[in-house]
Amino acid sequence: MEWIVTKDYKSMSDTAADMIVEEIKKNQHLCIALPTGGTPIGTLENLAAAYNERNLDYSKLRCFNIDEYVSLGKDHEQGYYYFLNNHLYSKTNIDLSKTYVPDVFAKDLEFEAELYEGMIQENGYFNLILLGIGEDGHIGFNEPSIVHEAICHVADLDNSTIDANARFFENKTEVPKQAITLGIGTILKAKKIILIANGKKKSDVIKKLAITNEIDPKFPASFLLTHPDVTIICDKEAVSCKE
Ligand code: GLP
Repeated sequence: MEWIVTKDYKSMSDTAADMIVEEIKKNQHLCIALPTGGTPIGTLENLAAAYNERNLDYSKLRCFNIDEYVSLGKDHEQGYYYFLNNHLYSKTNIDLSKTYVPDVFAKDLEFEAELYEGMIQENGYFNLILLGIGEDGHIGFNEPSIVHEAICHVADLDNSTIDANARFFENKTEVPKQAITLGIGTILKAKKIILIANGKKKSDVIKKLAITNEIDPKFPASFLLTHPDVTIICDKEAVSCKE
């Protein structure tokens, strides 16, 4: 794993966006999986700014949601497709017919998750995945567990994740309890992985990731150790150890 420590959130977002822009310049057809949450907002907005200021063409990109809450549709303000559309797609010439998200209203959600995996497979898996990380080490919505599903699946969210994500909702009871997420195997099939993290609240999980040297399914981010091309970009606060 390559580690890049930046002075602050802005510089983490600049560094991540610059790396992604370089990949887009090399391959306009890039197949990319994108995260949600507080962390990636700056990176996504930089990508939108780069499109406008550097005269880039995003029309051939293929963009996949890493995850989506069960029961929040594409037009729900706290839905993850809405988030990506709001921060990136709608501000660029990304072709919405090449943006993908599971249908979280499907009658058979497990089957829908398999269809989503199939779509990713048809697209040759990801050239690039931009990941965030949960305070408990989850990536996508692959929560700490003794067993993991390799492919896209329906995930039950841990209480701690529901608590962490409640800040985006009016109250905790509104946070969905399930999501469709890429599996660990889907993530690891990406050619290149960039993980971003910022702020003191991530310092414990980032410290754990830095010292981990073996796979621990109860620490999902540890699976990244098996991947040959992972870059972790985090700001100083996320690497500062709490006493
Ligand atoms: C959610 C998402 C993850 C994301 C994580 C961190 O649980 N499913 O993909 O990485 O939150 O979010 P934040 O960036 O807000 O800390």
